[in-house]
Amino acid sequence: MTSPGGLPHHIAIVMDGNGRWATKRFLPRLAGHRQGMESLRRCIRACLDRGVGVLTVFAFSSENWNRPADEVSGLMELLAMALGKEIPRLHADGVQVHFVGERSGLSDKVRAGLDAAEATTAGNSKMVLNVCFNYGGRWDIAQAAARLASQGQPITELALNGAMALAHVADPDLIIRTGGEMRVSNFLLWQAAYSELVFSDKLWPDFDEAELDRAIAEFAGRERRYGQTSAQVAADSGQKAA
Ligand code: IPE
Ligand code: IPE
Ligand code: MG
Repeated sequence: MTSPGGLPHHIAIVMDGNGRWATKRFLPRLAGHRQGMESLRRCIRACLDRGVGVLTVFAFSSENWNRPADEVSGLMELLAMALGKEIPRLHADGVQVHFVGERSGLSDKVRAGLDAAEATTAGNSKMVLNVCFNYGGRWDIAQAAARLASQGQPITELALNGAMALAHVADPDLIIRTGGEMRVSNFLLWQAAYSELVFSDKLWPDFDEAELDRAIAEFAGRERRYGQTSAQVAADSGQKAA
């Protein structure tokens, strides 16, 4: 879905490059993650200002548990801290927050914090923010299929769609990955079927409003064909304009 003026309704971001940002400055990797939080705050503000409907960010993947123990615990602490500090601000800005991912691996305290943040912001409607934490696209497909199977429901495309952890929002229109890598790393495997992909060489802490606007402009210049021909798309948009 594209909003007027070519603005994507739903933007999803793989926030990559925090570690390299820190290493380049001879800082510990965690300093990069802390700076990444600042960048996320700026990005949320920019999306609110531009009227983006949904922002989904990849904060911690199912595979990120494989990192050194001190980096993992540092990231968990950062999440716990962000819950205390950022949620009141997001709530005041009218943001509805969702945490998407497997919760069983998280501590009781963090889990309670996630539930409380979601409950506090549930009635907000300015923008939806999905924070994918302990998330993997394969996890989501598997949990959705398992849920349907346990209910004895047939596993159809429609039913799976409704059982996904991101069923409360439309599929992402634009997926941005920072940090220069051109891969999906287990992000939104199901929902990315017709997303436009934009890759940025900027490391996540350096991702700013100008780079966001560049990605949005690149998106606005794309032709989304959904399997049709270019001529069909042109005819459809001519009909809509008439
Ligand atoms: C992304 O930055 C944040 C997380 C995966 C938690 P990285 O930590 O992957 O940064 P690089 O890719 O090592 O630079
Ligand atoms: C993807 O980045 C996960 C997040 C941004 C949270 P990674 O840094 O984990 O991806 P790979 O390992 O380079 O594929
Ligand atoms: Mg990385």
